[in-house]
Amino acid sequence: MKPGDPTAVEQLFDAVAPRYDRLNDVLSFGLHRQWKRQVVRALRPVAGEHWLDLCCGTGDLALELARCVRPGGRVIGVDAAAAPLHLAEARQQRQPWLPVRFQQGDALETGLSSGSADGLVMAYGLRNLADPARGLEEMRRVLKRGGRAAVLDFNRLLPGTAAAQFQRLYLRRLVVPIAASVGLKDEYAYLEESLQRFPMGHEQEALARRAGFSEVQHQPMVGGQMGCLMLRA
Ligand SMILES: C[S@@+](CC[C@H](N)C(=O)[O-])C[C@H]1O[C@@H](n2cnc3c(N)ncnc32)[C@H](O)[C@@H]1O
Repeated sequence: MKPGDPTAVEQLFDAVAPRYDRLNDVLSFGLHRQWKRQVVRALRPVAGEHWLDLCCGTGDLALELARCVRPGGRVIGVDAAAAPLHLAEARQQRQPWLPVRFQQGDALETGLSSGSADGLVMAYGLRNLADPARGLEEMRRVLKRGGRAAVLDFNRLLPGTAAAQFQRLYLRRLVVPIAASVGLKDEYAYLEESLQRFPMGHEQEALARRAGFSEVQHQPMVGGQMGCLMLRA
């Protein structure tokens, strides 16, 4: 599959959706939940605020944010693919008191009002966008001045380093074989391909500054395997 092709990316996540959460748990040893909670804690969403979860997938971060902004706040989860959104909606229906709604849309052009959000998150989404720089510009546009954002994803590492070798082994020897065992080999082989064209931390910082963010810091996580771009509009 060609990384950055929006139709192919949408089809991929529609195909993966029914097994996505379970695979994420297995492949991260359940730790992705902790990383996401860590990101939410760093952003400090509070009651009454309006937040976005872009590339929300099955909605775990949107639901976590919704717990923080009660009462009076709201969260919108946006994703391009229909299948993960159906799962997100089903989760939300089991917790109908949470102020969150999900909508299908493009993170590059959300159609949301400018300066309308106090904060936003994007987890494992930026790498999948056809144009990450445009994605960052759209994030800046929808945030209020002073609004905060976090972009969590795999960290693209310098080739030849021990951390990069570990990452390659993890993706090739663990992720792809496990995904293959449930019929999703090609879908997860795409992960390494998409990482190869993903900007490194310092490049993400430069793109975010160009997009107009006033504070920008890429923080390595999980021994450098993951990275979180922390932003203030
Ligand atoms: C790896 S999943 C991450 C889902 C979720 N944020 C998580 O952390 O589990 C990436 C998601 O990005 C969505 N996506 C990819 N390109 C998109 C775009 N241009 N606009 C909105 N969503 C997009 C995919 O449909 C997919 O659900």
